[in-house]
Amino acid sequence: MRVVVGISGGIAAYKAALAIRELVQAGHDVHVVPTASALRFIGRPTLEALSRNPVTDEVFDDVAAVRHVALGQSADLIVVLPATANTLAKLATGLADDLLGTTVLASRAPLVLAPAMHTEMWEQPAVQANVRTLVERGATIVGPVAGALTGGDTGLGRMAEPTDVVAAALAAAGAAQQPGALAGRTVVVSAGGTREPIDPVRFLGNRSSGAMGAELAAAARAAGASVTLVGANLHVPAPEGVELVEVETTEQLRTAMLERADADVVVMAAAVADYRVEGASDEKRTKEAWGERPTLTLALNPDILAELARAPRRSLLVGFGAETEPDDDALVQRGRDKLARKGADLLVLNRVGHDEGFGRVDTRVRVLDADGVVADASGTKASVARVIIDTVAQRLAAASEEHQ
Ligand SMILES: Cc1cc2nc3c(=O)[nH]c(=O)nc-3n(C[C@H](O)[C@H](O)[C@H](O)COP(=O)(O)O)c2cc1C
Repeated sequence: MRVVVGISGGIAAYKAALAIRELVQAGHDVHVVPTASALRFIGRPTLEALSRNPVTDEVFDDVAAVRHVALGQSADLIVVLPATANTLAKLATGLADDLLGTTVLASRAPLVLAPAMHTEMWEQPAVQANVRTLVERGATIVGPVAGALTGGDTGLGRMAEPTDVVAAALAAAGAAQQPGALAGRTVVVSAGGTREPIDPVRFLGNRSSGAMGAELAAAARAAGASVTLVGANLHVPAPEGVELVEVETTEQLRTAMLERADADVVVMAAAVADYRVEGASDEKRTKEAWGERPTLTLALNPDILAELARAPRRSLLVGFGAETEPDDDALVQRGRDKLARKGADLLVLNRVGHDEGFGRVDTRVRVLDADGVVADASGTKASVARVIIDTVAQRLAAASEEHQ
């Protein structure tokens, strides 16, 4: 997920560092937006080193990238810790005189705020009214809690522990993923890239990381489905709560998928090798055995998507197409042809090149059915995955209604 961590100017700003580290370690793409006051409490180098992304509080930095709206638009979650009385007031009013203000206004992502201030400030009717306004508009407020405050006094106003703020923020982001839309459904997702052995140590493979499939599995899980991820040589961890079946070759992936072809939804997101090496050797081949100009003979692999389309109990079948076609219309036409040829219900089409698609955080896909484009999604793989899973859930719901 792309997470924006806002920091405002309270003494607890140093604790934001712990939250940033926890989010980065959990695999999230973290962008820190401090207020000018926050930068008087905690240094930019700390925030950049921990988040591994550039940090600015300036609306007028990096103008070409339209940073003041781009961050908010692409965020899956915004969490502000600590949230000062001043920042709560600004957010409640919709002020946009700094990067945090514009980012929050430009975003539809869940907003989680962790207030921290002295008890007297927290209990002020003005502060309480601002908090109520923010809650009414859908923000999640975590804390404050009672405990030691900066002046040596104790009372309500201490920021909730960073780990608790992170947990609440991730839960809020999960709640945004249409809980229950796939409740009671089984979903199988293939991900990663298959490898075809040449000998015990060498293989023919591809550059798929499995990130998209893993995000799809996570989104389906968050929507309430029971999910199996058939992972071919994944470079990313399997999401929590998802059953992982590890495979290496196309044949192993095929067996694993066909065994599970009766799931409610089958998503073929893995990059499957079209060819395998004929006569792969059981022993490591030496250079002497290879000779000067070795030749590999390849044999065509079975078309797993087409086989799944012919399975006796039809699932809602989603295929993926990675195309290098530069022209948009031609790309979509190619996708429709592929959909018709394979017999899948939906095809997720993305354009790949040497620096597009594989492993990159941002991605753009078109979802097609037999009639054309039904969804167009761009952003992080997590947000794109949610759009795809939403489309799948709508299809299933419509099909169930038809049968009633
Ligand atoms: C040492 C110190 C600690 C502060 N701690 C807090 C705090 O915990 N909560 C708060 O609301 N304001 C606190 N303030 C006041 C804010 O820094 C001030 O209201 C500032 O304008 C907030 O700006 P911002 O919301 O744009 O970050 C503190 C100020 C100082 C000098």
